[in-house]
Amino acid sequence: MQDFRYRNNNIEFGQTPQLPYSVQEAVNRLRINISFLGSDVRRIMIISSEPNEGKSFLAMHLWNQMAEAGEKTILVDADMRNSNLVAKYDIKREDGREMKGTTHYLAGNAQIDEVLVHTKYGYGDLIPNVENVINPSLLLETSKFEVLLEALAKRYRYVFVDAPPLGIVSDGERIGNMCDGAILCVRSTATPKGVVRESVHQLERAGCPLLGIVLNRVDESKGGYGKYGKYGKYGHYGKYYSDYYYGNGDR
Ligand SMILES: Nc1ncnc2c1ncn2[C@@H]1O[C@H](COP(=O)(O)OP(=O)(O)O)[C@@H](O)[C@H]1O
Ligand SMILES: [Mg+2]
Repeated sequence: MQDFRYRNNNIEFGQTPQLPYSVQEAVNRLRINISFLGSDVRRIMIISSEPNEGKSFLAMHLWNQMAEAGEKTILVDADMRNSNLVAKYDIKREDGREMKGTTHYLAGNAQIDEVLVHTKYGYGDLIPNVENVINPSLLLETSKFEVLLEALAKRYRYVFVDAPPLGIVSDGERIGNMCDGAILCVRSTATPKGVVRESVHQLERAGCPLLGIVLNRVDESKGGYGKYGKYGKYGHYGKYYSDYYYGNGDR
Protein backbone atom coordinates (compact mmCIF):
# COMPACT_ATOMS: atom_id res chain seq x y z
CA MET A 1 0.00 0.00 0.00
CA GLN A 2 2.84 2.31 0.82
CA ASP A 3 3.71 2.62 -2.84
CA PHE A 4 0.50 4.45 -3.58
CA ARG A 5 2.05 7.55 -2.11
CA TYR A 6 4.46 7.62 -5.00
CA ARG A 7 1.89 7.27 -7.74
CA ASN A 8 2.51 10.75 -9.07
CA ASN A 9 6.15 10.04 -9.28
CA ASN A 10 5.79 7.45 -11.97
CA ILE A 11 8.13 8.19 -14.77
CA GLU A 12 8.24 7.29 -18.35
CA PHE A 13 11.47 5.49 -18.87
CA GLY A 14 12.88 5.45 -22.36
CA GLN A 15 14.23 2.24 -23.83
CA THR A 16 17.22 0.63 -22.18
CA PRO A 17 19.24 -0.32 -25.25
CA GLN A 18 19.40 -3.97 -26.21
CA LEU A 19 22.75 -5.39 -25.26
CA PRO A 20 24.70 -7.98 -27.16
CA TYR A 21 24.36 -11.40 -25.59
CA SER A 22 27.93 -11.50 -24.21
CA VAL A 23 27.44 -8.22 -22.33
CA GLN A 24 24.06 -9.26 -21.02
CA GLU A 25 25.59 -12.49 -19.77
CA ALA A 26 28.46 -10.67 -18.05
CA VAL A 27 26.07 -8.33 -16.24
CA ASN A 28 23.97 -11.34 -15.32
CA ARG A 29 26.99 -13.10 -13.83
CA LEU A 30 27.80 -10.01 -11.83
CA ARG A 31 24.23 -9.84 -10.59
CA ILE A 32 24.39 -13.44 -9.41
CA ASN A 33 27.73 -12.90 -7.70
CA ILE A 34 26.33 -9.88 -5.89
CA SER A 35 23.43 -11.96 -4.65
CA PHE A 36 25.94 -14.26 -2.91
CA LEU A 37 27.50 -11.42 -0.93
CA GLY A 38 25.00 -11.75 1.89
CA SER A 39 22.16 -9.61 3.16
CA ASP A 40 24.44 -7.06 4.86
CA VAL A 41 25.67 -5.85 1.50
CA ARG A 42 22.92 -3.54 0.33
CA ARG A 43 24.45 -0.16 -0.54
CA ILE A 44 26.80 -0.71 -3.43
CA MET A 45 28.77 2.09 -5.04
CA ILE A 46 29.76 1.78 -8.69
CA ILE A 47 33.00 3.69 -9.05
CA SER A 48 35.95 4.19 -11.39
CA SER A 49 39.26 6.00 -11.35
CA GLU A 50 38.49 8.28 -14.26
CA PRO A 51 35.46 9.52 -16.20
CA ASN A 52 34.08 7.48 -19.09
CA GLU A 53 35.07 4.06 -17.84
CA GLY A 54 31.49 2.85 -17.92
CA LYS A 55 30.14 3.39 -14.39
CA SER A 56 26.76 4.64 -15.46
CA PHE A 57 26.47 2.01 -18.16
CA LEU A 58 27.23 -0.72 -15.65
CA ALA A 59 25.06 0.76 -12.90
CA MET A 60 22.09 1.12 -15.22
CA HIS A 61 22.24 -2.40 -16.61
CA LEU A 62 22.94 -4.00 -13.26
CA TRP A 63 20.01 -2.14 -11.72
CA ASN A 64 17.85 -3.17 -14.65
CA GLN A 65 18.72 -6.86 -14.44
CA MET A 66 18.38 -6.95 -10.67
CA ALA A 67 14.92 -5.41 -10.90
CA GLU A 68 13.90 -7.78 -13.67
CA ALA A 69 15.05 -10.66 -11.48
CA GLY A 70 12.48 -9.52 -8.92
CA GLU A 71 14.75 -7.81 -6.38
CA LYS A 72 13.56 -4.47 -5.08
CA THR A 73 16.34 -2.24 -6.31
CA ILE A 74 17.03 1.46 -6.52
CA LEU A 75 19.65 3.35 -8.49
CA VAL A 76 20.84 6.63 -7.02
CA ASP A 77 22.54 8.96 -9.45
CA ALA A 78 25.28 10.62 -7.40
CA ASP A 79 27.57 11.80 -10.17
CA MET A 80 26.35 15.29 -9.49
CA ARG A 81 28.84 17.18 -11.62
CA ASN A 82 28.54 15.14 -14.69
CA SER A 83 25.38 13.12 -14.78
CA ASN A 84 23.78 12.43 -18.13
CA LEU A 85 21.39 9.60 -17.27
CA VAL A 86 18.25 11.70 -17.53
CA ALA A 87 19.07 12.84 -21.04
CA LYS A 88 20.63 9.62 -22.21
CA TYR A 89 17.79 7.35 -21.16
CA ASP A 90 15.11 9.92 -21.82
CA ILE A 91 13.79 9.83 -18.27
CA LYS A 92 10.76 12.01 -17.66
CA ARG A 93 7.73 12.09 -15.42
CA GLU A 94 4.49 10.74 -16.76
CA ASP A 95 2.52 13.65 -15.35
CA GLY A 96 4.82 16.13 -17.10
CA ARG A 97 5.68 17.91 -13.86
CA GLU A 98 9.13 19.17 -13.07
CA MET A 99 11.43 16.38 -11.99
CA LYS A 100 13.70 16.79 -8.96
CA GLY A 101 16.69 14.68 -8.10
CA THR A 102 19.71 14.00 -5.92
CA THR A 103 21.04 17.57 -5.74
CA HIS A 104 17.57 18.95 -4.94
CA TYR A 105 17.30 16.52 -2.05
CA LEU A 106 20.80 17.25 -0.73
CA ALA A 107 20.26 21.00 -0.96
CA GLY A 108 17.12 20.63 1.14
CA ASN A 109 14.78 21.53 -1.72
CA ALA A 110 12.98 18.19 -1.84
CA GLN A 111 12.11 15.27 0.42
CA ILE A 112 13.14 11.70 -0.36
CA ASP A 113 9.68 10.79 -1.60
CA GLU A 114 9.68 13.70 -4.04
CA VAL A 115 12.84 12.60 -5.79
CA LEU A 116 12.16 8.87 -5.76
CA VAL A 117 10.58 7.70 -8.98
CA HIS A 118 9.06 4.48 -10.21
CA THR A 119 9.90 3.05 -13.58
CA LYS A 120 8.19 0.61 -15.87
CA TYR A 121 10.30 -2.08 -14.20
CA GLY A 122 8.09 -3.07 -11.30
CA TYR A 123 10.93 -3.64 -8.83
CA GLY A 124 13.26 -0.93 -10.10
CA ASP A 125 13.08 2.61 -8.75
CA LEU A 126 15.40 5.48 -9.40
CA ILE A 127 16.66 8.73 -7.93
CA PRO A 128 17.91 10.70 -10.93
CA ASN A 129 20.20 13.68 -10.80
CA VAL A 130 18.35 16.42 -12.60
CA GLU A 131 20.55 19.47 -11.96
CA ASN A 132 24.30 19.12 -12.16
CA VAL A 133 26.23 21.38 -9.79
CA ILE A 134 29.77 22.72 -9.78
CA ASN A 135 30.66 21.77 -6.23
CA PRO A 136 28.73 18.76 -4.95
CA SER A 137 31.37 18.27 -2.22
CA LEU A 138 29.52 20.92 -0.22
CA LEU A 139 26.28 18.99 -0.58
CA LEU A 140 27.98 15.88 0.75
CA GLU A 141 29.18 17.63 3.88
CA THR A 142 25.87 17.31 5.68
CA SER A 143 24.54 13.97 6.88
CA LYS A 144 21.75 14.01 4.29
CA PHE A 145 23.30 11.54 1.88
CA GLU A 146 23.93 9.05 4.66
CA VAL A 147 20.37 9.48 5.89
CA LEU A 148 19.15 8.86 2.35
CA LEU A 149 21.18 5.68 1.92
CA GLU A 150 20.09 4.37 5.29
CA ALA A 151 16.43 5.00 4.52
CA LEU A 152 16.75 3.35 1.11
CA ALA A 153 18.59 0.30 2.48
CA LYS A 154 15.53 -0.36 4.65
CA ARG A 155 13.14 -0.15 1.73
CA TYR A 156 15.21 -1.83 -0.97
CA ARG A 157 17.26 -4.99 -1.15
CA TYR A 158 19.86 -3.23 -3.28
CA VAL A 159 20.83 0.42 -3.46
CA PHE A 160 23.23 1.05 -6.34
CA VAL A 161 25.03 4.37 -6.26
CA ASP A 162 26.39 5.75 -9.53
CA ALA A 163 29.31 7.75 -8.13
CA PRO A 164 31.73 10.35 -9.50
CA PRO A 165 35.22 9.07 -10.44
CA LEU A 166 37.74 8.69 -7.61
CA GLY A 167 40.52 10.54 -9.38
CA ILE A 168 39.32 14.12 -9.34
CA VAL A 169 37.89 15.02 -5.94
CA SER A 170 37.20 13.26 -2.68
CA ASP A 171 33.45 12.85 -3.27
CA GLY A 172 33.82 9.22 -4.33
CA GLU A 173 35.70 8.35 -1.16
CA ARG A 174 33.14 10.11 0.96
CA ILE A 175 30.28 8.28 -0.70
CA GLY A 176 32.21 4.99 -0.45
CA ASN A 177 32.50 5.50 3.28
CA MET A 178 28.69 5.45 3.46
CA CYS A 179 28.30 2.27 1.37
CA ASP A 180 28.67 -1.41 2.21
CA GLY A 181 31.05 -1.94 -0.68
CA ALA A 182 32.14 -0.86 -4.12
CA ILE A 183 32.47 -2.29 -7.57
CA LEU A 184 35.37 -0.74 -9.42
CA CYS A 185 34.81 -0.31 -13.12
CA VAL A 186 38.02 -0.24 -15.17
CA ARG A 187 38.11 0.61 -18.81
CA SER A 188 40.33 -1.95 -20.43
CA THR A 189 43.58 -0.60 -21.95
CA ALA A 190 42.61 3.02 -21.20
CA THR A 191 43.30 3.23 -17.46
CA PRO A 192 46.94 2.86 -16.35
CA LYS A 193 47.58 0.11 -13.86
CA GLY A 194 49.04 2.53 -11.29
CA VAL A 195 45.86 4.59 -11.40
CA VAL A 196 43.76 1.50 -10.75
CA ARG A 197 46.02 0.58 -7.85
CA GLU A 198 45.65 4.06 -6.37
CA SER A 199 41.86 3.72 -6.60
CA VAL A 200 42.03 0.45 -4.71
CA HIS A 201 44.01 2.22 -1.97
CA GLN A 202 41.56 5.11 -1.90
CA LEU A 203 38.71 2.70 -1.29
CA GLU A 204 40.70 1.04 1.48
CA ARG A 205 41.32 4.42 3.09
CA ALA A 206 37.64 5.21 2.83
CA GLY A 207 36.84 1.97 4.64
CA CYS A 208 34.81 0.79 1.68
CA PRO A 209 35.27 -2.92 0.90
CA LEU A 210 36.11 -3.62 -2.70
CA LEU A 211 33.57 -6.19 -3.77
CA GLY A 212 35.03 -6.70 -7.20
CA ILE A 213 36.52 -5.21 -10.31
CA VAL A 214 34.78 -5.10 -13.65
CA LEU A 215 37.11 -4.91 -16.59
CA ASN A 216 34.96 -3.07 -19.07
CA ARG A 217 35.18 -2.85 -22.82
CA VAL A 218 37.62 -5.66 -23.29
CA ASP A 219 38.41 -6.04 -26.96
CA GLU A 220 38.56 -9.78 -27.30
CA SER A 221 39.90 -9.51 -30.83
CA LYS A 222 43.07 -8.04 -29.27
CA GLY A 223 43.71 -10.93 -26.95
CA GLY A 224 41.41 -10.10 -24.10
CA TYR A 225 42.86 -8.82 -20.83
CA GLY A 226 46.08 -7.33 -22.18
CA LYS A 227 48.23 -5.46 -19.69
CA TYR A 228 46.03 -6.20 -16.71
CA GLY A 229 47.27 -9.76 -16.77
CA LYS A 230 43.87 -11.24 -15.98
CA TYR A 231 43.82 -9.16 -12.83
CA GLY A 232 45.60 -11.84 -10.84
CA LYS A 233 47.12 -9.08 -8.75
CA TYR A 234 43.82 -7.68 -7.71
CA GLY A 235 42.14 -11.04 -7.35
CA HIS A 236 42.48 -11.22 -3.61
CA TYR A 237 40.52 -8.01 -3.15
CA GLY A 238 37.38 -9.23 -4.75
CA LYS A 239 34.85 -11.82 -3.84
CA TYR A 240 34.12 -12.06 -7.51
CA TYR A 241 35.40 -10.87 -10.76
CA SER A 242 33.61 -10.17 -13.94
CA ASP A 243 34.32 -8.77 -17.30
CA TYR A 244 32.37 -7.90 -20.31
CA TYR A 245 32.87 -6.38 -23.66
CA TYR A 246 30.61 -4.83 -26.19
CA GLY A 247 30.92 -4.97 -29.93
CA ASN A 248 33.97 -3.20 -31.22
CA GLY A 249 34.80 -0.64 -28.63
CA ASP A 250 34.48 3.10 -29.04
CA ARG A 251 31.38 4.84 -30.14
N1 LIG B 1 30.92 -2.09 -22.41
C1 LIG B 1 30.63 -1.02 -23.13
N2 LIG B 1 30.47 -1.15 -24.46
C2 LIG B 1 30.18 -0.07 -25.23
N3 LIG B 1 30.01 1.16 -24.80
C3 LIG B 1 30.16 1.34 -23.49
C4 LIG B 1 30.47 0.28 -22.60
N4 LIG B 1 30.57 0.80 -21.34
C5 LIG B 1 30.34 2.11 -21.49
N5 LIG B 1 30.09 2.45 -22.75
C6 LIG B 1 29.82 3.80 -23.31
O1 LIG B 1 30.93 4.62 -22.98
C7 LIG B 1 30.52 5.92 -22.63
C8 LIG B 1 30.99 6.24 -21.24
O2 LIG B 1 30.33 5.37 -20.34
P1 LIG B 1 29.64 5.90 -19.02
O3 LIG B 1 28.93 4.75 -18.40
O4 LIG B 1 28.85 7.12 -19.27
O5 LIG B 1 30.96 6.26 -18.18
P2 LIG B 1 31.10 6.91 -16.75
O6 LIG B 1 29.77 6.87 -16.10
O7 LIG B 1 32.12 6.06 -16.06
O8 LIG B 1 31.63 8.29 -16.98
C9 LIG B 1 29.01 5.93 -22.77
O9 LIG B 1 28.67 6.43 -24.03
C10 LIG B 1 28.64 4.46 -22.65
O10 LIG B 1 27.43 4.16 -23.29
MG1 LIG C 1 28.52 8.39 -15.44
